[in-house]
Amino acid sequence: MRVMHGLARLLFAIELCCLPLSGQTKVAARPPMGWNSWNHFAGHVTEADVRSAADWLVSTGMRDAGYVYVNVDDTWEGKRDARGVLHTNEKFPDMKALGNYIHLKGLKFGIYSSPGAKTCAGYEGSLGHEAQDAKLYAEWGVDYLKYDLCSFQDNMKKAEAEHPDDPNAAKNLMIAAYRKMGEALKATGRPMVYSLCQYGVDQPWKWGPELGANMWRTTDDIDDSYGRMIAIGFSQAGLAKYAGPGHWNDPDMLEIGNGKMTQNEYKTHMSLWVLLAAPLLAGNDLTKMTEADKNILMNKEAIAIDQDALGRQGDRLYQSGDLDVWTKPLSGGRVAVGLFNRSWSMRDVSVDLKEIGFKNGATVRDVWKQTDLGRRSGVVTSRIPTHGVTLLVVSQ
Ligand code: GAL
Repeated sequence: MRVMHGLARLLFAIELCCLPLSGQTKVAARPPMGWNSWNHFAGHVTEADVRSAADWLVSTGMRDAGYVYVNVDDTWEGKRDARGVLHTNEKFPDMKALGNYIHLKGLKFGIYSSPGAKTCAGYEGSLGHEAQDAKLYAEWGVDYLKYDLCSFQDNMKKAEAEHPDDPNAAKNLMIAAYRKMGEALKATGRPMVYSLCQYGVDQPWKWGPELGANMWRTTDDIDDSYGRMIAIGFSQAGLAKYAGPGHWNDPDMLEIGNGKMTQNEYKTHMSLWVLLAAPLLAGNDLTKMTEADKNILMNKEAIAIDQDALGRQGDRLYQSGDLDVWTKPLSGGRVAVGLFNRSWSMRDVSVDLKEIGFKNGATVRDVWKQTDLGRRSGVVTSRIPTHGVTLLVVSQ
């Protein structure tokens, strides 16, 4: 007993003293991967759901596939006490214990707040308490903060009304608010992924990195529908140059496994997100994953495209009506290619290998079929079902 007690204390001391030092390894060197409570549980999430998600990340193999962040989204917040210290609500009795539970499973702990007085769900935000909240997160062992604009938009509207001659009044106020929390997180000495959620307002890809942001939402919310998912995914063209190790464009979380899209549509979702080097945050109920969901979320070769060492985001090569071809440069001179069919019928979609740098032909691998297509040259064509995709890795 005494030995175990000593060991537990030693582990605790190591966590307290030394984890911040690992900040020397770059935060979010690859697009962060994990799970977030919002898409499935929304405002109903409880500590028990989050513990269970941690358990299932391990038992399903998701953790070992790379999904390590366990992110509690909105609705965990309670009230502030007389000293301004934020407490949790009754759904989350002990955040420190939850963080420990997550860490002991080899996972990381993420949390959520807003620069406004209130979060989007009307809970307590961080306005005026940034340093205090950041310190609290560090004490709880938090590794990731999603910071969601929400009611801060009221402050921005006010600034706009007060400074009618300054077209940047609202934008500057917003940037200052995000900078403030960025600095507060840094001051804690604990490395935390800093995730901006402000729906792409005023091009955060241009000012996010300078504030210490590791990722920023590029659009408004996703939902579990093919229409919304492709509207977001295909609108990301042109943003590739703003992403790189430590700072990523975030087209929002994954809906795979939530049940309202077909398997071909979910494969399109995963293919687009990995080509975009997007953070991969599963948003499904991990206790009810079908084999098909697992095969999509845990396809090692698809994940490797997202997490590739080069850290380059992909972009559109061309589009013709409902057909799209996207490419992503990979390490070792390889290229990932997504051939997409957004139409309502079976269609042929092609890519010319010469156009993507393989003048003398290349070796082609089909990621979803897990098959080598052998040595090919010139035009490669794939017959693709409605709303489907063929994801290829092309190498010399
Ligand atoms: C939205 C955000 C969602 C979720 C929700 C919580 O603004 O985009 O991802 O965090 O708030 O209230």
